Amino acid sequence: MQKLKDEVSRLLAPRVSLEPAEVINLLEIPPEPNYGDLAFPCFSLAKIKKKAPPIIAEELYEELRNEEGLLWEKAVPRGPYLNFFIAPEAFSREVLQEIWTSGDKYGHYNLGKGQNVTIDYSSPNIAKPFGVGHIRSTVIGHSLYLIYRALGYNTIGINHLGDWGTQFGKLIVAYKSWGNESDLKEDPVNYLYKLYVQFHKLVEEKPDLDDEARYWFRKLENGDKEALDYWNRFRQLSMDNYELIYDLLGIEFEYYHGESHYNQMLDEVIELVQKKGIARESEGALMIDLEPHGLPPVMLRKKDGATLYITRDLAAAIYRYETFKFARSLYVVGAEQTLHFQQLFKVLELLGFEWTSKCAHVPFGLIRFKEGRMSTREGKIILLEEVLNRSIEMAREIIEEKNPDLADKESAARAVGLGAVRFGDLSNDRIKNIEFDWEKALDFSGETAAYIQYSHARICSILRKSDKKVNVWDESAGSLLVTEEEITLVKTLALLPDKIFASAENYRPSILARYLIDVAREFNRFYHNCPVLDSEDNLKKDRLLLISSTRQVIANGLALLGIEAPDKM
Ligand code: ARG
Repeated sequence: MQKLKDEVSRLLAPRVSLEPAEVINLLEIPPEPNYGDLAFPCFSLAKIKKKAPPIIAEELYEELRNEEGLLWEKAVPRGPYLNFFIAPEAFSREVLQEIWTSGDKYGHYNLGKGQNVTIDYSSPNIAKPFGVGHIRSTVIGHSLYLIYRALGYNTIGINHLGDWGTQFGKLIVAYKSWGNESDLKEDPVNYLYKLYVQFHKLVEEKPDLDDEARYWFRKLENGDKEALDYWNRFRQLSMDNYELIYDLLGIEFEYYHGESHYNQMLDEVIELVQKKGIARESEGALMIDLEPHGLPPVMLRKKDGATLYITRDLAAAIYRYETFKFARSLYVVGAEQTLHFQQLFKVLELLGFEWTSKCAHVPFGLIRFKEGRMSTREGKIILLEEVLNRSIEMAREIIEEKNPDLADKESAARAVGLGAVRFGDLSNDRIKNIEFDWEKALDFSGETAAYIQYSHARICSILRKSDKKVNVWDESAGSLLVTEEEITLVKTLALLPDKIFASAENYRPSILARYLIDVAREFNRFYHNCPVLDSEDNLKKDRLLLISSTRQVIANGLALLGIEAPDKM
């Protein structure tokens, strides 16, 4: 598609008094394939030319009537658009060659060279189990991380662990008062969570506990050794548990800069805020009024001197800019924190940081796991680890049944099981709430990772059986792909770069995920109607080239969602 865009933009640029790069930015993919394959919208020219867009489209059409395109064969005006139709033979050849030569880099670009993008994602809270609540941040954040990296940006994954705050005062009090070592050793994270829940129950009868907790948190903030020792221990035990999940998911962070990382910087931040004159003291607490900006006030410091979540986020944002000079800074955090980020960005703006516009909150809805085979034991959070293992187990059963002779069932089960959870999340528009349904997520013919992975494995199997080598450099390679199914499949494959780009721009891996379903669907339609191994030699070669390109597109696309594409399953 890129080459077609280049050709069309070079052609149009002088006629519309724009630079070719500006034309490229305007080009769109028409919503309906029968409108054409590439559209040039004439809206933005209307002002300059002082004419209605449909008239401009009509005039351009007249001018181009006698032009001969390389990758396009006709241009047709449709309302305010001038639509181009591809020349199938040349276009197929171009697309298949590009995929072939780029291989696993097809769809990757050097757009962001030398630019840093920080992605704050996953960020669970220490001493609380890694619940399914954090799965969305982990999965969406990781995919955005991979997508931006594919576009040439230097991506920096930051795990903003919830490792500071009054809850640590509560934990210390609970552990010191009624906790015990052996329970802690046995199942650290669940035990710490239990202590926390018990604390909240007890505090209703013994309000003194709250004062004690505040006292211990103050000790912690003042660097008291005993308090710090407890805190360190709780933190490490939790981290060990999270590591298991990240290993399973193949995720690594550049930094585990939790909230505590910013403690040293808080005084300076508060000083800055005061110097700028945007804060006021109120009964000993430090507040910033945001009413003129339509937002509730922010508290930076409580009257007992304790700092808050947002104080640490302010310090973190400034630190990130000073350290990384980011081109973008993303926060992949649930929609319930939308107000928090509006306040954070507003305060940064009031502090005069013009880079605030480069920060974005990437919100998402809730995920709920349908009951059925996952048990929610009383008072226990559903753990992500259990969800993932459960999914792998179910995938194992399905594979066992579908393909009992498969040699490496274990890695296929992992790929399919983890893929089901990831794709079940990523294929939905992130802002919507999801009800995760196991049967649906693992359906091999539904809109699932398994369906896409299965198409991939099927292609691998055809390629293994073939005696012909695919040769893309053959003069006539691709020229026999003329059926509607073949051309549609080629056109679909040509869209991968656009989809990756759109996913990045909109912070929506769902765009890429939905696209991969289209690819798998178009492949299956093609394969249903067009034999590959049983066709005549030259046609066979072209079709092998087509399916091996399809395989490449699926593999590249899934990789950016963090999903594996096994060769056999
Ligand atoms: N730990 C927080 C939570 O679980 C998420 C942190 C998100 N990142 C941030 N910079 N605030 O709610």
